[in-house]
Amino acid sequence: MTISFAMIAERLNLSKSHITQSKGEKLTILQCEVVVLNAINNMKIAFVGKGGSGKSTLCASFALYVSSLTTKPVVVFDADLNIHAPKLLGFLPIPFDKHISAPGPTDEIKKWLIGKNDIKNLGAFRKSTPPTQKSNLVRLESIQNTPLGKYGLHRGNLSVFAVGTYQEEDIGASCYHNNLAILESILSHTDDAHGYVVTDMVAGVDSFAGTLHAQFDLTCLIVEPTMRSIEVYIKYIDLANEAGVAESVRVIGNKIRNQKDIDFIKSHIPSQKIIGFFTDDEHIRDIDQNGALLSVAKLNPDNQNILKTILELVDSLPDNRQLRLGKIWEIHRKYSNQVHIKNLYGNLNLQIDESFVFSDT
Ligand SMILES: Nc1ncnc2c1ncn2[C@@H]1O[C@H](COP(=O)(O)OP(=O)(O)OP(=O)(O)O)[C@@H](O)[C@H]1O
Ligand SMILES: [Mg+2]
Repeated sequence: MTISFAMIAERLNLSKSHITQSKGEKLTILQCEVVVLNAINNMKIAFVGKGGSGKSTLCASFALYVSSLTTKPVVVFDADLNIHAPKLLGFLPIPFDKHISAPGPTDEIKKWLIGKNDIKNLGAFRKSTPPTQKSNLVRLESIQNTPLGKYGLHRGNLSVFAVGTYQEEDIGASCYHNNLAILESILSHTDDAHGYVVTDMVAGVDSFAGTLHAQFDLTCLIVEPTMRSIEVYIKYIDLANEAGVAESVRVIGNKIRNQKDIDFIKSHIPSQKIIGFFTDDEHIRDIDQNGALLSVAKLNPDNQNILKTILELVDSLPDNRQLRLGKIWEIHRKYSNQVHIKNLYGNLNLQIDESFVFSDT
């Protein structure tokens, strides 16, 4: 069966800039799906949850799934202490000196993001410092041409970056939140108008320490059918409510073996919060036990369907760039108004440029 592109464009109310096919061209249904996906707006998605719940597995599966369906860039940030995403995505490990939280890369990236802003001292570029008209923005479609690009690994439209983990000299002297600061700056300065940012987050509720909880359109909270996992959900949702971002948090049950597991999760979490249930999967066991390569096509069909459901949900969300920025301003004001911060850096509220808007191009 064929259908004209003009018909799809009309039905979806797509603007001219979205239309890459010439008018009158006939497409198969499969091609239509790809065209529709390529037309959809920007998105930032995070996978969070208890340690070992399946964040990396679901994050990598989703990123592979999306990147196979679209020509848009899919950029993965592995912010987990245990860096698993590159391997799951079929890349080599990212060496320590390429971790974006390593001192060299961090300073280089910060300097570039600051652009023409009057911030002489890198220390005054805080994790909540928002983008302005004078900042350099990370545009996903050209990420490889930015100073950030060389720290990632790239294959086709898929890129992966490692935030970084503890080094021996950090033990007792550093807090992982410090490592996350550069990710926060990158995310707030990223315009995702033409692609997907997929982040494998730190375990538990660490993302509330800074701006991370406010940086995503959709936060997928991975919940195992265990009481400890439910406790992480309760804590996370409480903090998300307090921070005014609970709307963007949705749950995926993982490692589901039977109806009893589903009922257990449903007895603790409202149905409207649940995207679906990812079953205990032979292919994922094979990856873990025998080093098999992750392949979406080898996942249990029900699990492939969950990936589709996440993508449909993501693609149904509105353009939230300005809303997200408003939240960053709010967090930055709160941070800047603390007396010790004023004493250290002066009035950081001046870093907010309320005239800044993400453009449509
Ligand atoms: N649906 C599933 N079926 C079978 N095994 C799974 C499934 N999901 C995850 N696992 C296994 O559970 C373990 C933890 O998964 P994963 O590394 O994705 O979790 P994580 O939340 O990222 O963990 P960490 O907090 O250590 O980073 C792995 O051995 C993985 O293979
Ligand atoms: Mg992980």
